[in-house]
Amino acid sequence: MDQHSPIAVFDSGVGGVSVLRELMALMPNEHYHYFGDSANAPYGLKTTNQVWNLTVSAARYLFEQRNAKALVVACNTATAAAIHDLRAIWPEKIIIGIEPALKLACDRNPGGTIGIMATEVTLREKKLAALMNRYSRDCTVLRLHSPGIVELVESGKADSPEALALMEEELGHLRGKLDALVLGCTHYPFMKKAMIAVLGEQVDILDGGPGTARETMRRLAKAGLLNDGPGSLTVENSSGDPEKIRLTYELLNVK
Ligand code: DGL
Repeated sequence: MDQHSPIAVFDSGVGGVSVLRELMALMPNEHYHYFGDSANAPYGLKTTNQVWNLTVSAARYLFEQRNAKALVVACNTATAAAIHDLRAIWPEKIIIGIEPALKLACDRNPGGTIGIMATEVTLREKKLAALMNRYSRDCTVLRLHSPGIVELVESGKADSPEALALMEEELGHLRGKLDALVLGCTHYPFMKKAMIAVLGEQVDILDGGPGTARETMRRLAKAGLLNDGPGSLTVENSSGDPEKIRLTYELLNVK
Protein backbone atom coordinates (compact mmCIF):
# COMPACT_ATOMS: atom_id res chain seq x y z
CA MET A 1 0.00 0.00 0.00
CA ASP A 2 1.42 3.42 -0.99
CA GLN A 3 0.33 6.78 -2.41
CA HIS A 4 -0.71 5.10 -5.70
CA SER A 5 -3.16 2.78 -3.93
CA PRO A 6 -6.85 3.62 -4.27
CA ILE A 7 -9.13 5.52 -1.94
CA ALA A 8 -12.07 3.19 -1.32
CA VAL A 9 -15.48 4.87 -1.12
CA PHE A 10 -18.23 2.75 0.36
CA ASP A 11 -22.01 3.14 0.57
CA SER A 12 -25.08 0.94 0.84
CA GLY A 13 -25.69 1.72 -2.83
CA VAL A 14 -25.35 4.58 -5.29
CA GLY A 15 -25.86 7.39 -2.72
CA GLY A 16 -22.19 7.66 -1.80
CA VAL A 17 -21.64 9.16 -5.24
CA SER A 18 -22.69 12.48 -3.64
CA VAL A 19 -19.46 12.18 -1.59
CA LEU A 20 -17.38 10.67 -4.40
CA ARG A 21 -18.06 13.68 -6.64
CA GLU A 22 -16.75 16.02 -3.91
CA LEU A 23 -13.66 13.85 -3.41
CA MET A 24 -12.94 13.77 -7.14
CA ALA A 25 -13.38 17.53 -7.47
CA LEU A 26 -11.02 18.19 -4.55
CA MET A 27 -8.45 15.48 -5.35
CA PRO A 28 -8.61 14.71 -9.09
CA ASN A 29 -5.23 12.95 -9.04
CA GLU A 30 -6.37 10.04 -6.88
CA HIS A 31 -7.39 6.53 -7.86
CA TYR A 32 -10.89 5.81 -6.51
CA HIS A 33 -12.57 2.49 -5.99
CA TYR A 34 -16.30 3.01 -5.44
CA PHE A 35 -18.12 0.08 -3.85
CA GLY A 36 -21.92 0.23 -3.63
CA ASP A 37 -23.68 -2.53 -1.72
CA SER A 38 -26.98 -2.19 -3.61
CA ALA A 39 -27.66 -5.92 -3.13
CA ASN A 40 -28.27 -5.13 0.54
CA ALA A 41 -29.75 -1.59 0.29
CA PRO A 42 -31.53 0.01 1.98
CA TYR A 43 -29.39 -0.20 5.12
CA GLY A 44 -31.58 2.35 6.88
CA LEU A 45 -34.35 -0.17 7.58
CA LYS A 46 -32.09 -2.92 8.97
CA THR A 47 -31.04 -3.56 12.55
CA THR A 48 -27.89 -1.78 13.71
CA ASN A 49 -26.23 -5.17 14.05
CA GLN A 50 -26.98 -6.09 10.43
CA VAL A 51 -25.57 -2.77 9.21
CA TRP A 52 -22.48 -3.30 11.42
CA ASN A 53 -21.83 -6.72 9.86
CA LEU A 54 -22.25 -5.49 6.28
CA THR A 55 -19.99 -2.49 6.93
CA VAL A 56 -17.22 -4.49 8.59
CA SER A 57 -17.19 -7.07 5.80
CA ALA A 58 -17.11 -4.35 3.12
CA ALA A 59 -14.20 -2.65 4.92
CA ARG A 60 -12.32 -5.96 5.18
CA TYR A 61 -12.84 -6.59 1.46
CA LEU A 62 -11.69 -3.08 0.49
CA PHE A 63 -8.55 -3.16 2.64
CA GLU A 64 -7.58 -6.78 1.94
CA GLN A 65 -8.67 -7.34 -1.67
CA ARG A 66 -8.54 -3.80 -3.05
CA ASN A 67 -5.48 -2.60 -1.16
CA ALA A 68 -7.17 0.66 -0.16
CA LYS A 69 -4.92 3.34 1.34
CA ALA A 70 -7.97 4.97 2.91
CA LEU A 71 -11.61 4.10 3.41
CA VAL A 72 -14.32 6.73 3.11
CA VAL A 73 -17.54 5.45 4.64
CA ALA A 74 -19.80 7.54 2.41
CA CYS A 75 -22.91 6.38 4.23
CA ASN A 76 -24.31 8.06 7.35
CA THR A 77 -26.07 4.85 8.36
CA ALA A 78 -22.91 2.71 8.19
CA THR A 79 -20.95 5.46 9.95
CA ALA A 80 -23.49 5.63 12.77
CA ALA A 81 -23.49 1.84 13.19
CA ALA A 82 -19.81 0.96 12.86
CA ILE A 83 -17.26 3.78 12.58
CA HIS A 84 -15.84 3.39 16.11
CA ASP A 85 -15.39 -0.34 15.66
CA LEU A 86 -13.83 0.02 12.20
CA ARG A 87 -11.20 2.29 13.74
CA ALA A 88 -10.66 -0.20 16.57
CA ILE A 89 -10.28 -3.15 14.16
CA TRP A 90 -7.90 -1.28 11.79
CA PRO A 91 -6.17 1.30 14.02
CA GLU A 92 -3.35 1.86 11.51
CA LYS A 93 -5.69 2.69 8.61
CA ILE A 94 -7.16 6.00 7.49
CA ILE A 95 -10.91 5.68 7.96
CA ILE A 96 -13.21 8.65 7.41
CA GLY A 97 -16.90 8.65 8.25
CA ILE A 98 -19.63 11.11 7.30
CA GLU A 99 -21.56 13.27 9.69
CA PRO A 100 -24.73 15.33 9.04
CA ALA A 101 -23.74 19.00 8.51
CA LEU A 102 -25.66 20.22 11.58
CA LYS A 103 -22.86 22.43 12.88
CA LEU A 104 -22.63 24.25 9.55
CA ALA A 105 -26.42 24.66 9.43
CA CYS A 106 -26.51 26.16 12.96
CA ASP A 107 -23.50 28.41 12.28
CA ARG A 108 -25.15 29.76 9.16
CA ASN A 109 -28.62 30.10 10.67
CA PRO A 110 -28.22 31.13 14.33
CA GLY A 111 -31.48 30.78 16.24
CA GLY A 112 -33.08 29.23 13.16
CA THR A 113 -35.25 26.19 12.57
CA ILE A 114 -33.36 23.31 11.04
CA GLY A 115 -34.75 20.05 9.74
CA ILE A 116 -32.55 16.99 9.76
CA MET A 117 -33.47 14.11 7.47
CA ALA A 118 -31.84 10.72 7.92
CA THR A 119 -32.55 7.00 7.83
CA GLU A 120 -34.19 5.15 10.72
CA VAL A 121 -30.87 3.66 11.86
CA THR A 122 -29.11 7.05 11.84
CA LEU A 123 -32.01 8.73 13.65
CA ARG A 124 -31.99 6.20 16.47
CA GLU A 125 -28.22 5.91 16.98
CA LYS A 126 -26.30 7.69 19.78
CA LYS A 127 -24.05 9.57 17.36
CA LEU A 128 -26.89 11.75 16.08
CA ALA A 129 -28.37 12.29 19.54
CA ALA A 130 -24.97 13.61 20.71
CA LEU A 131 -24.73 15.93 17.71
CA MET A 132 -28.27 17.22 18.27
CA ASN A 133 -27.61 17.82 21.98
CA ARG A 134 -24.61 19.91 21.09
CA TYR A 135 -26.48 22.18 18.68
CA SER A 136 -30.07 22.26 19.87
CA ARG A 137 -29.16 25.08 22.29
CA ASP A 138 -28.47 27.39 19.35
CA CYS A 139 -31.20 26.24 16.98
CA THR A 140 -34.52 24.41 16.88
CA VAL A 141 -33.74 21.04 15.33
CA LEU A 142 -36.54 18.89 13.88
CA ARG A 143 -35.89 15.20 13.21
CA LEU A 144 -37.52 14.19 9.93
CA HIS A 145 -38.24 10.62 8.90
CA SER A 146 -38.03 10.22 5.17
CA PRO A 147 -39.02 6.78 3.95
CA GLY A 148 -38.87 6.04 0.25
CA ILE A 149 -36.09 8.38 -0.90
CA VAL A 150 -33.34 5.76 -0.96
CA GLU A 151 -35.50 3.39 -3.02
CA LEU A 152 -36.29 6.13 -5.57
CA VAL A 153 -32.63 7.12 -5.95
CA GLU A 154 -31.58 3.45 -6.23
CA SER A 155 -34.08 2.95 -9.03
CA GLY A 156 -32.84 5.98 -10.98
CA LYS A 157 -35.94 8.09 -10.22
CA ALA A 158 -34.41 10.96 -8.22
CA ASP A 159 -35.57 13.46 -10.82
CA SER A 160 -39.12 12.28 -11.52
CA PRO A 161 -42.77 13.13 -10.81
CA GLU A 162 -42.68 10.43 -8.08
CA ALA A 163 -39.77 12.22 -6.41
CA LEU A 164 -41.65 15.51 -6.42
CA ALA A 165 -44.81 13.87 -5.04
CA LEU A 166 -42.84 12.19 -2.25
CA MET A 167 -41.12 15.43 -1.24
CA GLU A 168 -44.46 17.26 -1.26
CA GLU A 169 -45.85 14.59 1.06
CA GLU A 170 -42.85 14.63 3.43
CA LEU A 171 -41.84 18.29 3.38
CA GLY A 172 -44.90 20.21 2.19
CA HIS A 173 -46.05 20.88 5.78
CA LEU A 174 -42.71 22.61 6.48
CA ARG A 175 -43.00 25.15 3.66
CA GLY A 176 -42.13 28.60 5.04
CA LYS A 177 -41.04 27.11 8.39
CA LEU A 178 -37.44 25.95 7.79
CA ASP A 179 -34.25 27.99 7.55
CA ALA A 180 -32.10 24.99 6.69
CA LEU A 181 -32.44 21.33 5.80
CA VAL A 182 -29.59 18.98 6.70
CA LEU A 183 -29.37 15.86 4.51
CA GLY A 184 -28.16 13.10 6.82
CA CYS A 185 -28.08 10.39 4.17
CA THR A 186 -25.85 10.37 1.12
CA HIS A 187 -28.71 9.40 -1.22
CA TYR A 188 -30.70 12.53 -0.39
CA PRO A 189 -28.63 15.19 -2.24
CA PHE A 190 -29.87 13.63 -5.49
CA MET A 191 -33.41 14.72 -4.58
CA LYS A 192 -32.38 18.33 -3.99
CA LYS A 193 -34.24 19.59 -7.06
CA ALA A 194 -37.55 18.22 -5.73
CA MET A 195 -36.75 19.55 -2.23
CA ILE A 196 -36.17 23.06 -3.58
CA ALA A 197 -39.37 22.84 -5.65
CA VAL A 198 -41.31 22.12 -2.43
CA LEU A 199 -39.48 24.31 0.11
CA GLY A 200 -38.26 27.17 -2.08
CA GLU A 201 -34.79 28.48 -2.97
CA GLN A 202 -34.37 30.36 0.33
CA VAL A 203 -33.90 27.18 2.39
CA ASP A 204 -30.25 26.30 2.96
CA ILE A 205 -29.91 22.62 1.95
CA LEU A 206 -26.69 21.10 3.27
CA ASP A 207 -24.99 17.74 3.10
CA GLY A 208 -21.84 16.26 4.63
CA GLY A 209 -20.07 15.50 1.32
CA PRO A 210 -17.80 18.57 1.06
CA GLY A 211 -16.69 18.32 4.72
CA THR A 212 -15.94 14.61 4.32
CA ALA A 213 -13.85 15.28 1.20
CA ARG A 214 -11.84 18.01 2.98
CA GLU A 215 -11.22 15.74 5.98
CA THR A 216 -10.05 12.92 3.65
CA MET A 217 -7.58 15.25 1.97
CA ARG A 218 -6.30 16.51 5.32
CA ARG A 219 -5.72 12.95 6.60
CA LEU A 220 -3.98 11.79 3.41
CA ALA A 221 -1.75 14.87 3.33
CA LYS A 222 -0.79 14.33 6.96
CA ALA A 223 0.17 10.72 6.21
CA GLY A 224 2.12 11.73 3.07
CA LEU A 225 -0.22 9.61 0.95
CA LEU A 226 -1.59 12.10 -1.59
CA ASN A 227 -1.09 10.88 -5.16
CA ASP A 228 0.43 13.09 -7.83
CA GLY A 229 -1.77 11.78 -10.63
CA PRO A 230 -3.21 11.04 -13.07
CA GLY A 231 -6.30 9.78 -11.23
CA SER A 232 -8.87 7.11 -12.15
CA LEU A 233 -12.18 5.61 -11.06
CA THR A 234 -13.36 2.01 -10.85
CA VAL A 235 -16.92 1.20 -9.85
CA GLU A 236 -18.09 -2.03 -8.27
CA ASN A 237 -21.59 -2.94 -7.12
CA SER A 238 -22.52 -5.99 -5.07
CA SER A 239 -25.77 -6.44 -7.02
CA GLY A 240 -23.88 -7.49 -10.15
CA ASP A 241 -26.46 -5.43 -12.06
CA PRO A 242 -24.89 -3.40 -14.91
CA GLU A 243 -27.71 -0.89 -14.52
CA LYS A 244 -26.32 0.09 -11.06
CA ILE A 245 -22.90 0.74 -12.60
CA ARG A 246 -24.49 2.89 -15.30
CA LEU A 247 -26.53 4.78 -12.66
CA THR A 248 -23.37 5.37 -10.57
CA TYR A 249 -21.68 7.13 -13.49
CA GLU A 250 -24.87 9.03 -14.35
CA LEU A 251 -25.21 10.38 -10.78
CA LEU A 252 -21.57 11.47 -10.82
CA ASN A 253 -22.55 14.08 -13.37
CA VAL A 254 -25.64 15.39 -11.52
CA LYS A 255 -24.99 18.86 -10.10
N1 DGL B 1 -26.80 6.27 1.91
C1 DGL B 1 -26.98 5.83 3.24
C2 DGL B 1 -26.78 6.92 4.26
O1 DGL B 1 -26.02 7.85 4.03
C3 DGL B 1 -28.16 4.98 3.60
C4 DGL B 1 -29.14 4.58 2.61
C5 DGL B 1 -29.80 3.24 2.96
O2 DGL B 1 -30.78 3.24 3.73
O3 DGL B 1 -29.29 2.26 2.47
O4 DGL B 1 -27.32 6.88 5.34
